[in-house]
Amino acid sequence: MVQLHDLTFEPYIHDTDIREKVSGLAARINADYGNTELHIVSALTGSFMFTSDLVRHLHMPCYLHFIKVSSYHGSTQSTGSITLDAELKADLAGKHVLISEDIIDTGLTAGFLHEYLMKKQAASVKIAALLFKPNAYKGSLPVDYPGFSIPNDFVVGYGLDYKELGRNLKDIYKLKDS
Ligand code: IMP
Ligand code: MG
Repeated sequence: MVQLHDLTFEPYIHDTDIREKVSGLAARINADYGNTELHIVSALTGSFMFTSDLVRHLHMPCYLHFIKVSSYHGSTQSTGSITLDAELKADLAGKHVLISEDIIDTGLTAGFLHEYLMKKQAASVKIAALLFKPNAYKGSLPVDYPGFSIPNDFVVGYGLDYKELGRNLKDIYKLKDS
């Protein structure tokens, strides 16, 4: 059990299962892209741990970009509004881009990023996410590389936070009794 602010979280996905899932996703990405140059766009802050674990398994020439988006603003419910806190300076025209997300909930963030990157005239934009909540998903884009599909539980750990706490936990926890 883990206490973060006013809420209690219980163990949900163990670190060994996360590692196995991440290397499996990387294997699929390696198979699909081969030696094609890839630009990873990691959505901070939540995706920092997933991205860093994922990229060490990738074999193609890999560029890394970090973009800061916020959608939750410190609660356990998505607000529906997305803010871009830092622009991407890189020229991605004609490049193959992979969005790296910790979790896809409503899909608003991934949809927003996809549109933003397509406007930069990327040759292709695909999406990888460690966690995916299919029942909350409102997007129309395919999630190309989904890790774990989970129910609409609020989860923390492995980069994911509740009011900025819990990001450092190596396992994933879910809200107790949710
Ligand atoms: P979406 O735009 O609704 O898909 O939400 C994406 C963002 O909301 C993620 O990148 C997370 O930062 C946050 N988020 C969604 N679900 C959870 C959760 O269960 N725990 C912690 N953060 C979450
Ligand atoms: Mg968050």
